[in-house]
Amino acid sequence: MSDKNFIILNDPGKPKMTHQLIIAGNWKMNLLRDGSRKLISDLQKGYTFGSAMKVILIPPATLLGSIADQIRNSPFFLGAQNCHEERFGAFTGEVSAEMLADLGCTYVVLGHSERRTLFGETNNQIRARASSALDFGLTAIICVGESIEQRQAGLAMDTVSKQLEECVGSEANSNNCIIAYEPIWAIGTGKTAELQDIEEMHRHIRNVLIAKSATGNDIPILYGGSVKAENASNIFAVPQVGGALVGGASLNSQDFLEIIKAGQRND
Ligand code: 13P
Repeated sequence: MSDKNFIILNDPGKPKMTHQLIIAGNWKMNLLRDGSRKLISDLQKGYTFGSAMKVILIPPATLLGSIADQIRNSPFFLGAQNCHEERFGAFTGEVSAEMLADLGCTYVVLGHSERRTLFGETNNQIRARASSALDFGLTAIICVGESIEQRQAGLAMDTVSKQLEECVGSEANSNNCIIAYEPIWAIGTGKTAELQDIEEMHRHIRNVLIAKSATGNDIPILYGGSVKAENASNIFAVPQVGGALVGGASLNSQDFLEIIKAGQRND
């Protein structure tokens, strides 16, 4: 098991859990109620993996309430794709961390590259949102990753360092924070990063987290970007990879279950 990162649940009274891979499905702006109900029902029927892994479903906001009901008493956790930094107020169209917690969410994705590039979200905003998520008991899944131009210019590490420095607060720990490394050029393109590049970047992220937080060694780091059934087990075997943030392949129950199964094989 050597170098994989662990999730340590520090709640007093609970046994420590280690080596639990995290597999999160980001549905992005996809699916209506019928399709969502069917996808989750198929996942529930096909899920035979017990608690060996933590599976997080991250649907669009419109589906969170119904999914919270549907996954009650099942091994799936619920996450949202974003939240606003303020608790309430005149912010038309926005949803707060408290509202997500009220619906039954325990995770929220922050700083996805689509939010950064299409909607202009800044590192400062992402940090403020992570802090609000923490206030309401949500675990923030903070996304980082470089563009192809930054990688080609040799700036991938510096880009990710800056994102981590500015988005992750000193209060981050293994109970309230997950980092997702998603190179922008690998998202939705079918191009996965080379395993060696994934390892190098994950080690770099680990070092930044250790320098930042007393529990930086325990904060899970996920890889995202064209994760599929065919490449998942190789990716999960990379040192420091604590799981995956899956986009397209999480919309198909068979594909997503295959990815989960690949995680189990590495356990
Ligand atoms: P794909 O798996 O479709 O490349 O998307 C990755 C992603 O953006 C997950 O957040």
